[in-house]
Amino acid sequence: METLVVLTGAGISAESGLQTFRDSDGLWNGYNVYEVATPEGYKKNPKLVLDFYNMRRREVAKALPNEAHKAIATLQEKYHVTVITQNIDDLHERAGSKNVLHLHGEIFKMRGEKDIHTLYEIKGDIHLGDMAPDKTQFRPHVVWFNEQVPMIEKATIIMAKADVFILAGTSLQVYPAAGLIDYLPLKIPKYIIDKNPPYIPPHHGFHVIRNTATAGMDELMKILL
Ligand code: APR
Repeated sequence: METLVVLTGAGISAESGLQTFRDSDGLWNGYNVYEVATPEGYKKNPKLVLDFYNMRRREVAKALPNEAHKAIATLQEKYHVTVITQNIDDLHERAGSKNVLHLHGEIFKMRGEKDIHTLYEIKGDIHLGDMAPDKTQFRPHVVWFNEQVPMIEKATIIMAKADVFILAGTSLQVYPAAGLIDYLPLKIPKYIIDKNPPYIPPHHGFHVIRNTATAGMDELMKILL
């Protein structure tokens, strides 16, 4: 079985009703990114940050996987599929994808402020005063700007083993995730699906599908299945 790797971003979940970050109606509108997505912002106003992610968690709980998430899961019938996602939602898993690596954390998990490895399930809200066993405040298991991306090394190893690659719904603005495409083998088939694709230098050899995630995946399924 060939190994197919998919790297996704917020655009894959846009048609499930979850806003992307950098489109004009993006999530940061009305919120200063430094206030809600950096350790410094959290230190300054933890309640604001907890509430921000409590809202995100409620939105994700209400959202459903779309046809693009489902198509990626269907590819498991023919390929050994690994999804590397920058998204903190669980829509790939709910669509049936078995191997999902979350680079930027998961909204339905939380942890204490110090121990980044011990994770706890969280379906509802995290309140100020909810303490981890080590007596630190619970916070979302989300990787903020200026924080380490613990999964990045594992992701580079997965990328290097790809026989086929799909990049879907990411602006490739955020590192180290954006640098992952440099780890792909040179001569494998590579596809990008995005309604407004980021520029990728031609030597990478991407086949560009300028379309929404659902329509683009539908098109790609005819090639890959
Ligand atoms: N179908 C396909 N692509 C879409 C759709 C859609 N329906 N809607 C938007 N897009 C594309 C946009 O054109 C853009 O290229 O999805 C991409 C979304 O880009 P961003 O909003 O920058 O999201 P992402 O790349 O996932 O952001 C990376 O930044 O804010 C941090 O940690 C956060 O994981 C996030 C990271």
